[in-house]
Amino acid sequence: MAKVSWKGSALLAPVPAALVTCGDMEKSNIITIGWTGIVCTRPPMTYISVRQERYSHDIILDSGEFVINLTTSAMVRQTDLCGVKSGRDIDKFAVCGFHKAPAKIVAPPLIEECPVSLECRVTESRILGTHTMFLAEIVGVDAEEKYIDSKGKLNLQQCGLAAYAHGEYFALGRKLGDFGFSVKKKKKKKPAAHK
Ligand SMILES: Cc1cc2nc3c(=O)[nH]c(=O)nc-3n(C[C@H](O)[C@H](O)[C@H](O)COP(=O)(O)O)c2cc1C
Repeated sequence: MAKVSWKGSALLAPVPAALVTCGDMEKSNIITIGWTGIVCTRPPMTYISVRQERYSHDIILDSGEFVINLTTSAMVRQTDLCGVKSGRDIDKFAVCGFHKAPAKIVAPPLIEECPVSLECRVTESRILGTHTMFLAEIVGVDAEEKYIDSKGKLNLQQCGLAAYAHGEYFALGRKLGDFGFSVKKKKKKKPAAHK
């Protein structure tokens, strides 16, 4: 297959377009973040990379806390808006019609409309170039009750999560398999009962 080779570029996709909240219940801001991910399971660790000129940058640097709120297809317009307007100029909670809910452990608010929120505490800030990477421990998780079944399992597929790939937003669609399905043994068919 013919391939075109380019110089290194930030072309990983898809990524989340997460709504990251910072500040506190009184004075808070929302910034849309694509550069995020999980970097460790135990302790649960994440990162967000934020350009130094963002209004949110110094708020997170000074407070050492933020919340990653997962976004759904239904809120993709607000997600885009929080990624093109600055909290220096507008109150993004008010403009988006989002409601604040207090987090259990950290000071920044949760976005009530988001199905899952990760409360994060910064453990290290590193200027990498255009962006500062805030490495953080996920110290708490807040999930909407209606997505948790009677066995306590969180059914994320019911939330209608959205993703971002190379400048475009997508709704997560058809399920293709479960973790480990490629090696899972097929259940033997029970022999038909003799009549
Ligand atoms: C889908 C999407 C993803 C984005 N990802 C990032 C990111 O990872 N880091 C960043 O610094 N800015 C990112 N931005 C840009 C900021 O969200 C944007 O500059 C925002 O207006 C900054 O808000 P603030 O000035 O209130 O902090 C992204 C924007 C969009 C639309």
